[in-house]
Amino acid sequence: MHEDTTYLDSHEELRLSVRSFRVLGEFITERLGIKMPESKLPMLRSRLQRRLRALNLDSIEAYKDYLLKSPHAQQELADFFNAVTTNKTDFFRESKHFDFLQQQALPSLDPSQGYPWKAKVWCAGCSSGEEAYTLAMVLSEFGHQRGRFDFGILATDICTTVLDHARAAIYEQSRIEPIPEPLRKKYLLRSRDPSKNTVRITPELRSRVHFHRLNFMDEHYPVADTFDAIFFRNVAIYFDRPTQQAVVEKLCRNLRPGGYLFIGHSESLLGLDLPLRMVTSAAYRKTR
Ligand SMILES: C[S@@+](CC[C@H](N)C(=O)[O-])C[C@H]1O[C@@H](n2cnc3c(N)ncnc32)[C@H](O)[C@@H]1O
Repeated sequence: MHEDTTYLDSHEELRLSVRSFRVLGEFITERLGIKMPESKLPMLRSRLQRRLRALNLDSIEAYKDYLLKSPHAQQELADFFNAVTTNKTDFFRESKHFDFLQQQALPSLDPSQGYPWKAKVWCAGCSSGEEAYTLAMVLSEFGHQRGRFDFGILATDICTTVLDHARAAIYEQSRIEPIPEPLRKKYLLRSRDPSKNTVRITPELRSRVHFHRLNFMDEHYPVADTFDAIFFRNVAIYFDRPTQQAVVEKLCRNLRPGGYLFIGHSESLLGLDLPLRMVTSAAYRKTR
């Protein structure tokens, strides 16, 4: 047990621990933008258990001090962010957006570009890559139908664990269910080892997606490109309104006029002051 807590009664221990969780919660909100109301403290506690075990620490107070005060903090910070982010994702998640992209958004953008056209899409908050590779499949299909079409995808996230997974592009067979059969045949390779129930995205598709670490809370995004579309789905839901405003404003700087921004279906930009107009459910177009 932590030295100075040995003689504390359990009520005092609990109070200290709640206080430390609050400090960590505020730190998460400040550094990642993610809201941390008290109701999330049990979740935070369970997510940090593995970090405590890895560092051989016996209390959340000790972990808080380690993270915020020790010289190793910089190294721990990435593991802390990896532990506290929620990375739920799927191939073809909220699939209407991909139909809209292929059938309406891309054709509406096409003529202004001249030929050959290289479309650029940013998958912002890409988690383990399913959304970025879904986009790559959809853009590749669009290219086959149209001809004289090329594309590149930037995919970013703060969490290094999911980025490693995304770059490896290997997925359990059970994860590929939402991918239509013809696309599975074209864009997925079965593992040569029959004992492994996994598939890998084809090298051609992998070469179109570039994964980078980026924190939406950074003041300036080190992104030079201007994008035809940005997918920023199921991320803003974790942010408060001022953070949503600031982040989407920055994303819009890298969106071309007339370009599309997609958010998650359970998210809303209502009431924010942004150069966007809604075009369909959870999809916006940049006005200027
Ligand atoms: C729930 S996932 C959404 C994944 C994908 N966009 C989708 O809709 O399926 C949210 C992702 O946002 C990332 N994230 C959260 N806060 C972030 C921040 N401040 N900067 C960059 N990425 C962040 C998380 O690491 C996580 O992978």
